[in-house]
Amino acid sequence: MSQIIIPVDPFDYVVFGGTGDLAERKLLPALFHRQLAGQLTEPTRIIGASRSEMDHEGYRNFAREALKEHLPDDEYQEEDVEQFLARLFYVAVDAKSDKGWSELKALLDEAPERVRAFYLAVGPALFGDISERIQSHGLITEQTRIVVEKPIGRDLQSARTLNKTIGEVFEEEQIFRIDHYLGKETVQNLMALRFANALYEPLWNSAHIDHVQITVAESVGLESRAGYYDKAGALRDMVQNHLVQLLCLVAMEPPSSMEAEAVRDEKLKVLRSLKPITENNADAVTVRGQYKAGASAGGPVKGYLQELEGGVSNTETFVAIKAEIDNWRWSGVPFYLRTGKRMSERISEIVVAFKPIPHSIFGPGAGRITANKLVMRLQPDEGVKQWIMIKEPGPGGMRLKHVSLDMSFADRFEERNPDAYERLLLDVIRCNQTLFMRRDEVEAAWSWVDPMLTAWEETGQPVQPYTAGTWGPSQAIALIERDGRTWHETD
Ligand code: BG6
Repeated sequence: MSQIIIPVDPFDYVVFGGTGDLAERKLLPALFHRQLAGQLTEPTRIIGASRSEMDHEGYRNFAREALKEHLPDDEYQEEDVEQFLARLFYVAVDAKSDKGWSELKALLDEAPERVRAFYLAVGPALFGDISERIQSHGLITEQTRIVVEKPIGRDLQSARTLNKTIGEVFEEEQIFRIDHYLGKETVQNLMALRFANALYEPLWNSAHIDHVQITVAESVGLESRAGYYDKAGALRDMVQNHLVQLLCLVAMEPPSSMEAEAVRDEKLKVLRSLKPITENNADAVTVRGQYKAGASAGGPVKGYLQELEGGVSNTETFVAIKAEIDNWRWSGVPFYLRTGKRMSERISEIVVAFKPIPHSIFGPGAGRITANKLVMRLQPDEGVKQWIMIKEPGPGGMRLKHVSLDMSFADRFEERNPDAYERLLLDVIRCNQTLFMRRDEVEAAWSWVDPMLTAWEETGQPVQPYTAGTWGPSQAIALIERDGRTWHETD
């Protein structure tokens, strides 16, 4: 089966932070892949912007190296790369002064009618300065959009301030707040599974679902982000955005269409129904963890504090939460969330655990009847597994077995699985906001996270140590086992 490629109109993508880590690892490779797929039309341009002094050729050299490093060898074909590099331009721009802005304007004014996107791949401290200068230098046209990356604030107050600052320059329809998890194929598949099949939706409620688990486990540690991460921690870095967004897609009511406002209205209702976690219950429903030295990816690895080089820190690198949604559909159905660095393996999964059957007609010889589960694997090995009971083949009476109906997307489809950024970067050009977060959504997510942060601070909830390369602290296992349930074992 071949993918359907719909070319987009030519555009100018200006990437602030154009020489940074995100541009190098994700944005340039993603745009390159879209070119390979035939989606970029002439004369699309990608304009790197940052403080470093460099000319167009210098930027092309930077991008060539980035592609060499981040593309698999068989995708790095000289001719394609050179064709891509010819689209690249560069302007040295200072966010904090007027330096370079008139050069950027002159470049953009060569094609004032073209769709124009500004990607802020920079820290949030610069969002305000850059937005204001984009405006004061007259760079905003009818066809302009701005893309911002997380972290959008570090609490509700700072998120509101950031949203307000950007909102003073751009209309909400022009602002694309990226959560790259929403661009992942299986995350979109979750919507297909729920709303393009008659099978699941009638069962998708507290009458039939026992609980939901969302796990986003990473095997990497701090990488080179100690400065940012130690101030953020797992709750801000992963839960406030990625895990909460996944929870919303599992829990939301069917939207009336895939239109952005319809989907985001439904997600917002879920966010507003999340039961508050405060100092009264934080200790019982949340677990904070921090990794110590252990083994990962086949070798010994340092503990978090050693990675911080002797630092002292109470930052959590792991968090598990028993979340509850106080609404008609989900009342009494816990959503267990967990995420952490330096865990056993890199794996992201959503598990929908159904209730047991009400009565068994099979005798004790048939064995235990395990409840059904639907497992959506986001990464790696994207796919869906439906766990069901069947009769074990062969004579000798009725013996039942728990087996999975597997659909691995890699086996089913020949095409490569596009990176989340490929989809999202071009959705910006198409002006499709469905997979981006609206201002009120971001703020509602912070409204749920904020009291948890305060509770941790006020009660001094400690981080529980866990050995690198494991599934987190034992308290996280106890969190779910207290309710008579267990974490789904990945396979
Ligand atoms: C980012 C976090 O948003 O997501 C990182 O800041 C994390 O800490 C990353 O490693 C995980 O993304 P992915 O796509 O590799 O699961």
